[in-house]
Amino acid sequence: MLTQNLIYASTSTSTCNTLSLSLYNSTMAICHHHHHHHTFHTHHAFPPTTTPTPHLHLRLPSSFRCNLSVTSPPKLEPEPVYTSVKSFAPATVANLGPGFDFLGCAVDGIGDFVTLKVDPQTPPGEISISDITGTGNSAKKLSKNPNWNCAGIAAISVMKMLNIRSVGLSLELEKGLPLGSGLGSSAASAAAAAVAVNELFGGKLPASELVLAGLESEAKVSGYHADNIAPAIMGGFVLVRSYDPLELISLKFPNDKNLCFVLVNPEFEAPTKKMRAALPTEISMSQHIWNSSQAGALVAAVLQGDLVGLGKALSNDKIVEPKRAPLIPGMEEVKRAALEAGAFGCTISGAGPTAVAIVDDEEKGRVIGEKMVEAFMVGGNLKAQAMVKKLDRVGARLVSSSSR
Ligand code: HSE
Repeated sequence: MLTQNLIYASTSTSTCNTLSLSLYNSTMAICHHHHHHHTFHTHHAFPPTTTPTPHLHLRLPSSFRCNLSVTSPPKLEPEPVYTSVKSFAPATVANLGPGFDFLGCAVDGIGDFVTLKVDPQTPPGEISISDITGTGNSAKKLSKNPNWNCAGIAAISVMKMLNIRSVGLSLELEKGLPLGSGLGSSAASAAAAAVAVNELFGGKLPASELVLAGLESEAKVSGYHADNIAPAIMGGFVLVRSYDPLELISLKFPNDKNLCFVLVNPEFEAPTKKMRAALPTEISMSQHIWNSSQAGALVAAVLQGDLVGLGKALSNDKIVEPKRAPLIPGMEEVKRAALEAGAFGCTISGAGPTAVAIVDDEEKGRVIGEKMVEAFMVGGNLKAQAMVKKLDRVGARLVSSSSR
């Protein structure tokens, strides 16, 4: 649903016709369907400047309204189609070893929730954060100022893209993910918020635009990288093919393969900003060749559903992991323990400190998870928790909605 290409143009009244065409004819995302994947091209954030290609379908959702005034240029604004919505966005594993900043995937069953309401108490066009709840100390640590909160920043960005000026919103964030864990906690909040705002107003924006909104938030809180936010919104495996313009390729993992992620989260904080500062600014040609071939192999393994190949590539980053692993107490031992216990591969999830291992069986995953927890204690004197999760193929979504 989110991957649809939408171009908005009026078909209702003649006045609106011209206005809406001039404003909306360029909100464009192209989705090419190949055998195994599709590609999004988004040329930039709102307001867009490209022109539509003739074969694309034009339509104006009935809820668009024309705001005419003499002094300011006429603008369209969608009306809310619900009074409140609740959305969910999954945790994500970024990098997947050799795919630093360009590969990531979503994992099932853990993530953040956002409840978004039309709120007459909030000034029109603005958003307020009414409540933050959830795991650990996240509620205390996160700002309720929407400009300093991942969910708030993404929500504001989507409101701007949609040109929301007449309605105020209030947002409630329920954290299911620990902060700074390497599970894409900030991206999950941003993705849930972006989808909530978009869906409240009828789901006009394509996923690629929502990724751009989330990217604004990621850039502010942890760094300019889309390898968490893109899979958090789109689900599955995503390749960030280019940042400027943003081009995302969804990599289809075969349905019949049993891919399990063993995620082991130690009680240790590894702020993404700090973990990024530890990275080299330049690499050698031989490192480039090695990591590029591993990343290529990883993409091939994903498309073929080759778990052994996926694990092998995941384990073989020679640029980022060697710099970061020493900063996470016990990580080297944890990786060794996972591989010795039969995992196909193991690396740091995102910027860490969570370790991720790949297996083909849930029970096996639990056994390997226990060994990894042990290794965090023995090697790093850290308490840790293990979980075994599947791939999330859906991405951020509405879980409930209500209308007047
Ligand atoms: N690619 C990013 C990094 C992901 O490794 O810094 C952060 O979650």
